[in-house]
Amino acid sequence: MKVLISAGPTREKIDAVRFLSNRSTGKMGYALAEAARRLGHRVVLVAGPVNLPDPAGISVIHVESAAEMADAIHAEAADSDLIVMAAAVADYRPKRVIDGKMKKSDGSLLIEFERTEDILASLGKRKRPGQLLVGFAAETTSLITYASEKLARKNLDWIAANDVSRSDIGFGSDRNAVTLLGSDGSRFEIGPAPKFEVALELLRKITEK
Ligand code: CTP
Ligand code: CA
Repeated sequence: MKVLISAGPTREKIDAVRFLSNRSTGKMGYALAEAARRLGHRVVLVAGPVNLPDPAGISVIHVESAAEMADAIHAEAADSDLIVMAAAVADYRPKRVIDGKMKKSDGSLLIEFERTEDILASLGKRKRPGQLLVGFAAETTSLITYASEKLARKNLDWIAANDVSRSDIGFGSDRNAVTLLGSDGSRFEIGPAPKFEVALELLRKITEK
């Protein structure tokens, strides 16, 4: 199978020296890429800015912004059999990027933001028969409710619900625990375990049927 995986945060430019980003380190996405490789698949990894070495035997495309990630994913998606969006894609970007380095002035600063493309929702709209589409849901409350909504709304086959309010798992941690929800109503608890172990079990579950 050709497996396409996204990982890490995105960076949305404010001016020449500043950006908006999030706490994703890319560890879960990289673990998924390495686990998919271990299972014998051909893997393409689209990575936002992370401090991780390119894994051996995997083709890595490095991107910065949500728009660049969207372009890279769409270019690779059509012939992919399994797509896992593990990246923490920015939902908004500054409407205008300020030229050069912004100068401060007295008083408060207002920056207007506009929505980025929801890459996973776009993939869901053009999903071809036999293609498996998997999302992650990063939540701090109502984990299963929100994750189920995303599973249905984005036309996914599976979603891994990730409680990011816990410090022992999730962002930055070497371990994770997810609840894997299937569009057929199935539900599996995976972990807490090292991210590579979680990745292996998740991939085994979704390619089992
Ligand atoms: N996602 C995406 N493109 C975006 C935002 C999110 O492809 N612009 C993907 C993520 O990679 C993840 C899934 O959508 O697989 C869910 O991301 P999440 O941030 O949990 O949900 P959102 O749909 O963005 O909703 P919200 O942030 O409001 O909870
Ligand atoms: Ca989001």
